[in-house]
Amino acid sequence: MPKLFVQTKTEPHLSTICVGASVEDAAAVCKENGYSKVGVVFSKNTEGIAGRAIAALRKANVLSEKICIDDCEKSKGVENATSLLLKMKLAGLDRHSAVVAVGGGVLGDVSAYAASTYMRGIPIVQVPTTLLAMVDSSVGGKTGVNLDGKNMVGTFHPADAVIIDFSTLESLPADEYRQGIAEIAKAACIGDEKLFSLLESDAQKIVKRDPQTLCAAVEAALKVKAKIVERDPKESVLNPSESSRMLLNFGHSFAHAIESESGYSVRHGDAVAMGMVAAANASSKVSGLAKSDVERVKKLLLSLGLPTAVSQNPEKLLLRMKSDKKNRAGEITLVLLKSIGRPQIMRNVPDSIVLDALKAASP
Ligand SMILES: NC(=O)c1ccc[n+]([C@@H]2O[C@H](COP(=O)([O-])OP(=O)(O)OC[C@H]3O[C@@H](n4cnc5c(N)ncnc54)[C@H](O)[C@@H]3O)[C@@H](O)[C@H]2O)c1
Ligand SMILES: [Zn+2]
Repeated sequence: MPKLFVQTKTEPHLSTICVGASVEDAAAVCKENGYSKVGVVFSKNTEGIAGRAIAALRKANVLSEKICIDDCEKSKGVENATSLLLKMKLAGLDRHSAVVAVGGGVLGDVSAYAASTYMRGIPIVQVPTTLLAMVDSSVGGKTGVNLDGKNMVGTFHPADAVIIDFSTLESLPADEYRQGIAEIAKAACIGDEKLFSLLESDAQKIVKRDPQTLCAAVEAALKVKAKIVERDPKESVLNPSESSRMLLNFGHSFAHAIESESGYSVRHGDAVAMGMVAAANASSKVSGLAKSDVERVKKLLLSLGLPTAVSQNPEKLLLRMKSDKKNRAGEITLVLLKSIGRPQIMRNVPDSIVLDALKAASP
């Protein structure tokens, strides 16, 4: 089983990421780390998977309590985190206890936020059960809950361990699964040409959830994320540069506009796929990405079952991009590509480039 270790120079915290592990391995981690008690957080959709972790914890003689929470995006509010904190108290968790979060990005984010504040912070072990949580939200230390806006409240609280078991994806609906594929493709574009080629040659195996191919792709995608996070663990590199965490936003400036313009009927990963096509178009104009590579990006996304055409009005999307809170004073900053695997951050991108990139991505 591939193991990755994410440790930053400034933080003593070491996250161990076990790719292709089994849910039951969470128990061994908890035993080894000597937690006094473990609160296993799950939702209705992940109850069966959490049951496997609980059985293993019992077998390993680690005290545990079940904690069920709602995990739809609407329930990602501060109130849900407060109600989870109360459940953790009722479960008798103390300063030496830990949380094991069994679920997707919503459950993982809420649980990690609660763990980071409970008794001034207790450890968390993440058992991601969606592909997006495996390649993105469970790694990197960001926690977040919604308060009059998405992820308006949060902390940095890296997991002690992340246990990635591909068998948990068996029950995941296809729509949800596809959202994670987009983030793997993003990782390939910004940091790993070999991963890009692997995705090109094995697209069908990825779509069919072949565990071996997934293991190689997820491991490579996590390495890309880990390298970026290690350089900028707390998103404190304020100036957009190749050493900032902003690189992870490839396709995302366009995607956020597409999602909000659709009233959130377009899902995040789908919007990221469309956004990557627009960003690749802009890259060919500004940062030297070869036209043939723009085509490769589009072809890859299509073969992975992702949407690539942006049907919304380009002018409306441009306005949304200019008012994005991540952009300063209406100035658009984009992550572009010099070539596949080599990103470049471009500040003050002219409106005409953004509009042309969107028009070239229209159906
Ligand atoms: N912390 C970070 O760095 C970070 C990064 C990216 C995204 N996020 C957050 O992640 C969230 C999205 O996460 P997501 O895409 O994992 O979706 P999700 O957590 O909303 O889960 C989607 C649905 O799938 C269900 N589900 C989860 N695992 C399942 C399984 N194995 N079988 C059947 N159903 C299952 C869930 O109950 C839910 O209904 C967003 O809130 C986003 O802000 C955080
Ligand atoms: Zn994303």
